Amino acid sequence: GRPPHVRPRVVLVGPMGAGKTTVGLLLGERWGVAVRDTDADVEATTGRAVSDIFVEDGEQHFRDLERNAVATALAEHDGVLSLGGGSVVDAGTREVLAGHQVVFLRVGLTDAVKRVGLGVGRPMLLGNVRARIKALLDERTPVYESVARHVVDTDGRTPEDVADEVDALL
Ligand code: S3P
Repeated sequence: GRPPHVRPRVVLVGPMGAGKTTVGLLLGERWGVAVRDTDADVEATTGRAVSDIFVEDGEQHFRDLERNAVATALAEHDGVLSLGGGSVVDAGTREVLAGHQVVFLRVGLTDAVKRVGLGVGRPMLLGNVRARIKALLDERTPVYESVARHVVDTDGRTPEDVADEVDALL
């Protein structure tokens, strides 16, 4: 696609198992731009694993760190930016996303469960993975829709195919 006049070139949002990381890497390669991920940014700035922050300090503390990571990445980064799946539940994070090229990678329950597997390292999925994913999809889908300019379906599709569609619509 044509480079838009906003930076980052694209901001990928969507649930765990939507393919944000994989599709983001493909787009970065294709466009020859750097790829950044807010989960990795939080881990780098704190020196701790996301799942440890959740367990030791709670979700709200993670959301605070994540909001700062999102704001910093939006200000600094020109390439592809992938956000953590729950970032949009935070009103402050939604505010800083306004005006950016946000793409919601949509995924249904069956494909999300397949891609997430046992949910290792994903604190929001402790307990019954399928039930947790269903609850998160139900609760967050309207929020992803509210922040996104574009929605791209990922069910039954390869990351390459999804990256093609994102590329074509920007
Ligand atoms: C979360 C999603 C994860 C990570 C954390 C919380 C969520 O990101 O930020 O485990 O609340 O959905 P990915 O979507 O990159 O797995």
